[in-house]
Amino acid sequence: MCGIVGLIGDRVKVGDLIEALEKLEYRGYDSAGVAFLKNHELNITKSKGKVESLKNQLQDRLNELIQIGIAHTRWATHGEPNDINAHPHSDCSCKISVVHNGIIENFRTLKIRLQELGHKFLSQTDTEVIPHLIEEYYNGDLLEAVRKAVLKLEGSYAIAVVHADHPDIIVGARKGSPMVVGVNGQTIGLASDITPLLKFTKEVVFLEDGELVELSKGTVKIIGFDGVARKHHPVFVEWSYEDAQKSGYKHFMLKEIFEEPSCIVSVLTGRIKSGHVVLEEFKPFEKNLANSKAIKVIACGTSYHAALVFKYLLENTTDITADVDVSSEFRYKKPHLKPESIVVAISQSGETADTLESVRLAKRCGAKIIAVTNVVGSTLTREADCVLYLNAGPEISVAATKSYVAQLVMLYLLALKIGEILSNSIVQNSELIDRLMRIPEIFENSLKSVDKIHELAKKYKDYKHFMYIGRGYGYPTALEGALKLKEISYIHATGYPAGELKHGPIAMLGPEFPVFAIAPGDSLSPKMKSNIIECKSRNAKILALTNYDNQEIAELADDVIFVNNSNEELYPLLMTPAIQLFAYFVADELGLDPDKPRNLAKSVTVE
Ligand code: F6R
Repeated sequence: MCGIVGLIGDRVKVGDLIEALEKLEYRGYDSAGVAFLKNHELNITKSKGKVESLKNQLQDRLNELIQIGIAHTRWATHGEPNDINAHPHSDCSCKISVVHNGIIENFRTLKIRLQELGHKFLSQTDTEVIPHLIEEYYNGDLLEAVRKAVLKLEGSYAIAVVHADHPDIIVGARKGSPMVVGVNGQTIGLASDITPLLKFTKEVVFLEDGELVELSKGTVKIIGFDGVARKHHPVFVEWSYEDAQKSGYKHFMLKEIFEEPSCIVSVLTGRIKSGHVVLEEFKPFEKNLANSKAIKVIACGTSYHAALVFKYLLENTTDITADVDVSSEFRYKKPHLKPESIVVAISQSGETADTLESVRLAKRCGAKIIAVTNVVGSTLTREADCVLYLNAGPEISVAATKSYVAQLVMLYLLALKIGEILSNSIVQNSELIDRLMRIPEIFENSLKSVDKIHELAKKYKDYKHFMYIGRGYGYPTALEGALKLKEISYIHATGYPAGELKHGPIAMLGPEFPVFAIAPGDSLSPKMKSNIIECKSRNAKILALTNYDNQEIAELADDVIFVNNSNEELYPLLMTPAIQLFAYFVADELGLDPDKPRNLAKSVTVE
């Protein structure tokens, strides 16, 4: 999704804006641009394609000191990706420059009105109405002109604005799209997320919806859309600038997979005491749980697969039913929620538009929202009744990897806690807790198969189709394996419950259509064995993911990846690195960039 940034300070250079944009690349984009003031003159450069091409255009100016600057990575929503539609956009006088993340829903009406007033438009974007509106209201006070302009906007946005006559001011505004303000540094700034600001400061303020910010050298002023001053206490961010770098790995995705054991430790830290799960945040909702006996879970993409693991876990180990919905479906359905209902909303970014709208729908029914997210201060955290933070650190690669693992661990803890509250068998829980505590170490072992998985990726990379199958706890892993492969290698992959094969998809199998079988030695292993035999008799190659003791499956398969033996509830966790690494190496072997898959965005902030 689009990324915006604005920087102000005595030592800011053109190159700093480019570097900041590079930090936002992971969000997904198709064009980029900058606007900066130097000697009171507004300079704008825009380019279709990668930040690299923008950087090449500015190669001779990267070391030039500037007064202020804003920059943008655009992910097209209105108008094709080209130089003209790229941000920043300007007014008729070419003094005002704006970058925008989000969608202005009433831009057509506004554009017609502005055109009637004589404004000339150059692009097909919704964004361009903003500088023209500001121009209409501008009377020497930039903050006030932006305030009046945003009152006319409908939709979601985070914007940053500069004016050639105000070389020491950047104005930002937020409604529905994230904006972080870096404070207390020699250089301060604003951005769509923390990453580009970490080089300059670790103290940030998360702007709320309906707020404007005016940054001038060393000072930050925040007001509401009503013009009244607002107070914020800066938050100290633990993430280091280095955390957001590749640390010697070829890609962020590989680095992030190898960070999974430490992510598990982070999630577990302080969460288990004397054999019990500590989730104080959940305490106020224990009564709701006892009354409703059901939990609604909403999420998208990979987070939805984590939700499915949670469902199996909860329903197999407690009396609670878990009803899981994809957010984009749930938000348009009759919600069937009551005031005592509990809704668990899972979102790595905390900014996924469909999940946020689903949360708002659930809140209108009076339901209590438990957020499971990785991003402190994200919109979801501010709308939820309780937040379970993953503390997985920044995830730069577009494909979710370590955040998925962290989500699973947090959801195991939540399921265990629920079991405990409902007086489920503590014996069973304590065994699982014991195993969970040892997971980081066992996980390291799973990652040792990296060379073997690399070899298998080389062997299988030229197939055009893949069928991922699993049963029970293995089914969400099959879905996630297929999603990882298709999103970064562009190979067609389908995830299916193995028992459903014969109801249709088995028709596709053959020598050109291999099967990736998620087949741990759990209670459903004999059933998986039959399914694998069915596939083999259609001449499909079998790549099986199983545990060391499950020799029967290993003998049936053409190729095998082994993980440590465990209890069945934990296999979704243990098997995850293998499906992620397989997808990673296939993409890399095909010469693709796994960190920036085409057409995808890290934070899906529009519907
Ligand atoms: C896949 C992936 C996406 C996200 C989905 C939801 O690798 O990353 O499918 O899981 O867009 O995003 P969050 O979890 O941020 O709500």
